[in-house]
Amino acid sequence: MDSGSVLQRGVRVPLSGHFRGTRAGPTVRVGSVKPSASNADPAVRRSDDAHKVYPRQFDRDDFWSQIKRTVNGKPVSEEDIEMIVTQYADHLDLSSRDHLLDLGCGNAALAARTFDRIASYTGVDFSSYLLEIANEYFKPDASVTYIENDAASFVKDCPEPGAYDKLLCYGCMSYLSREELLGLIETLHDRFSNLERAFFGNIPNTSKAPEFFARRDVKDYDLDDPKSPIGVWWDPDELSDAASAFGFTAKVVHMPEQFYGATYRFDLLLKRSGDGGA
Ligand SMILES: C[S@@+](CC[C@H](N)C(=O)[O-])C[C@H]1O[C@@H](n2cnc3c(N)ncnc32)[C@H](O)[C@@H]1O
Repeated sequence: MDSGSVLQRGVRVPLSGHFRGTRAGPTVRVGSVKPSASNADPAVRRSDDAHKVYPRQFDRDDFWSQIKRTVNGKPVSEEDIEMIVTQYADHLDLSSRDHLLDLGCGNAALAARTFDRIASYTGVDFSSYLLEIANEYFKPDASVTYIENDAASFVKDCPEPGAYDKLLCYGCMSYLSREELLGLIETLHDRFSNLERAFFGNIPNTSKAPEFFARRDVKDYDLDDPKSPIGVWWDPDELSDAASAFGFTAKVVHMPEQFYGATYRFDLLLKRSGDGGA
């Protein structure tokens, strides 16, 4: 396959048929996503047990363990959770008229903390169990809806893309292949015409991977595997450049230093160009 690739700080990243560019040079789009055997059908492309079966071992109200928001096996602190909420709510500039779309919502314990700031909420996840928890604990009224679907499929096929003003995708995008995530961002831009802002949070940063794995004494690692525990790692500038090439104004943002994941991860804020810049 003539996929094209870039070397990002020692890591070769394939950009198969969809997007080719380097951080140094101009970004160039070269046509639409060319599905490969591994990503052609999101429904069959991978074993998703890590998300669909794993959460079942925990108590129904052990929300952070279910979605692996843990450090040394213990749920992260309330301060860490509140830092995440502040980060996405501020950058999304949530308001009482917003319909928030949450891709990879999990059990929705995170997004539920901002239900009172928005008009309506739609959470999408492919884990029926996590959505069962979401419906049991985090469905205050009819303004909150959950849909069981693959995130990339939903964005491609949802019948009312114009219904959403803001988008949250927290801790989920690393479980999409590079092509899928780029395709998803492009489709968001092209189909979701009323989407003002999108916040992609907790993205693993390729430049921090050597340090991350060295600290764990792991020598063999793959930064390109959506099925691995952490998923696909990204270079912040390259992801931001790609989103800009699709027409968004993109800005890489970081969590406060004291946040447990601040060292190895970054966030990406997208605004529709013309919305005052990112
Ligand atoms: C780490 S959890 C984050 C959940 C929630 N966004 C949060 O931050 O609390 C990742 C979520 O992404 C979901 N997920 C992973 N890949 C997905 C896909 N291709 N389509 C839909 N959901 C997916 C998993 O089921 C899981 O609920």
